[in-house]
Amino acid sequence: MEIEICWCTITFAVLIFIIGFYYIGYLIKVSMGPKRSFKDLKNKHVVITGGSSGIGKASALEAAKLGANVTIIGRDVQRLKNAVNEIIQKVAPANNQNIQYVALDITSGYDSVEKCFSNIEATLGPIFMLINCAGMCICGVFEDMKADDVKHMMDLNFFGTADPTKYVLSAMKKRNEGRIVFVTTEAALMGIYGYSAYGASKWAVRGLAEAINMEAIGTNVQVTLAFPPDTETPGFEKEELTKPTVTKLISGSGGLWKPDDVGKKIVHDAMAGKLYSTFGSTGKMLEILNCNGISSIWQVLTQCVFMGGLRFIMVFVLTNFYAIVNNDLAEKLISPNVKVEENTCTEEKNKDK
Ligand SMILES: *[C@@H]1O[C@H](CO)[C@@H](O)[C@H](O)[C@H]1NC(C)=O
Repeated sequence: MEIEICWCTITFAVLIFIIGFYYIGYLIKVSMGPKRSFKDLKNKHVVITGGSSGIGKASALEAAKLGANVTIIGRDVQRLKNAVNEIIQKVAPANNQNIQYVALDITSGYDSVEKCFSNIEATLGPIFMLINCAGMCICGVFEDMKADDVKHMMDLNFFGTADPTKYVLSAMKKRNEGRIVFVTTEAALMGIYGYSAYGASKWAVRGLAEAINMEAIGTNVQVTLAFPPDTETPGFEKEELTKPTVTKLISGSGGLWKPDDVGKKIVHDAMAGKLYSTFGSTGKMLEILNCNGISSIWQVLTQCVFMGGLRFIMVFVLTNFYAIVNNDLAEKLISPNVKVEENTCTEEKNKDK
């Protein structure tokens, strides 16, 4: 008798689960609308900011391989020329395929971005995919950073992304087709020692991108947010110079990636219409734990199943990071290189009186 009740309950639970599963799947499908994915980029125009080196150049190369007209944007004409030549040499573009560069300071304000982008569209056609890759990183503990550097990163990383994005959006919505890629960093998924101002500028980009993604629901315009880990680029080499040891230890735990692999994955994730493009197991874990977007019932199901366990693992990751910070602090205490200055607060207070 008892066994019968048990089976009955199990069958009922399974039934409820299956119905729930299909219902959520249905909700997701209806609310997100049809999603198109692309197999190649023939007859498409792809524009990449920060396209003369690193991840930007690698993305441009992949877009050219997939048959697109490609425009790379940067500041240094010589580097842009070299990048275009390299792409042409490696890809041997088709007759109707153009690879061009445009020199533009992406921080020069919306009006000049608009002017430049309308010229770009006039030569190689409407922009199908915009890859926002221009950016820079200056690291340091926040109190030691130059205020100008903090401002500059916001200018380049955030406004240098917001302006081109604003330009392409309305035309994309009108044509009901387009992809906008935002290249950020794993430091846009969690705050990391030494990445205060840099992380903030990339969190801003993430906030922008996720909101634009929701504003584009029901259209064929899609947003992809890429969170690359440390990648072997000229930008990364420069970043290393200002990077505190603690930051190196923490962010280096994700390994060092090749720009070609990162660029390739970003372009393909954008073609597939993925909201999040992450790299390696740490990236995947952070994506699941942040779970802001919905892409499919499978994604939702895996997140529901693994969330608790991942949080558990993340506690070990975080306490390991904290231990790195604590060790560093202990070392500084053993060999203090900070001069103790006289406290002038009390004197000033007295003066006020
Ligand atoms: C590239 O742009 C030119 C000029 O607009 C156009 O004729 C050509 O078909 C485009 N090719 C591709 C691959 O999009």
